[in-house]
Amino acid sequence: MDLSKIITENEPLARHTYFRIGGPAKYFVEPRTEDELAAVLARFGEEGEDIHVLGGGTNLLVSDDGIDGVVIHLGEEFSVCEFQEGTTRAIVAAAYPLSAVVRKSVERGLAGLEGVIGVPGTFGGAALMNAGGKYGNVGDVITSVVVMNYDGSVHRIERDELEFTYRSSNIPGIVLRAELGFVRGATDHLSAKMKEVLQQKRDSQPLSAKSAGCVFKNPPGGSAGALVDQLGFKGVTVGGAQVSTKHANFIINTGAATAANVLELVDKIRDKVKGAFGLDLELEVRLWGFS
Ligand code: EPU
Repeated sequence: MDLSKIITENEPLARHTYFRIGGPAKYFVEPRTEDELAAVLARFGEEGEDIHVLGGGTNLLVSDDGIDGVVIHLGEEFSVCEFQEGTTRAIVAAAYPLSAVVRKSVERGLAGLEGVIGVPGTFGGAALMNAGGKYGNVGDVITSVVVMNYDGSVHRIERDELEFTYRSSNIPGIVLRAELGFVRGATDHLSAKMKEVLQQKRDSQPLSAKSAGCVFKNPPGGSAGALVDQLGFKGVTVGGAQVSTKHANFIINTGAATAANVLELVDKIRDKVKGAFGLDLELEVRLWGFS
């Protein structure tokens, strides 16, 4: 199979992350079909390249040196969402935007995802990370997923084998699509709930800034944002990276931030939180390309 059309060399990953930070990927590959994806995995697997799979790039910090390997980005052909008429079910392919699934489900009077409005990214990434917040999580509605393993084989995993925990799941391999099960609700009620959650987020989070969402996981029973805020970090900068003045668990790229700037700020925060509260804050943001 000729893969040259779907491979770009030295693609700047800053173009593909919400942070707008990140050096180049040695190979950036956009497979259009499952067969192409399997062929890409076979080729680069044989060559011994490190393989990374990119979703919406919303929860990701890529190093300034980039990725000495392959970054796979599922193409438009994987951006499909199908609600099955007359049922409470939908099938969503991995590259489809989570926010569009939320809105479509609410329009159809299907309850289950209205609380995750305001979370950016693709459905595949959201499933893998069990994206969400205190008003609900993506894993709540997933009834099965179809994944491709790194050997190119395709498997369907049923709900009883899936585990969704706080910003994590046991989904192996690359998500191709998921089947969702909703419960019936009233569109006006769901729509009002969705607007309320979105307004709360707009009031408390820098939704339109270049960021990777919340940087740290909340410690059990607490709020990372509240702890970082108490230590006076809002507005603190390292180079172009700044702790948001709206929500202290967000670091924003004010224009020319490097990944090194962000990590230096992260380390400063962690050190101070450890000193003041004896807590080790765990990163929620995924890191790529750091040794
Ligand atoms: N708070 C402060 N200062 C701040 C930020 C928060 O005092 O700078 C206080 C708030 O006033 C509130 C408490 O901390 O009393 C909790 O804050 P918030 O309601 O904003 O929730 P959170 O725990 O900080 C979590 C998720 C968000 C998600 C929201 C809403 C984590 C790490 N964060 O935030 O997820 O959007 O709930 O559901 O789990 C993300 O995952 O990227 C993310 C943003």
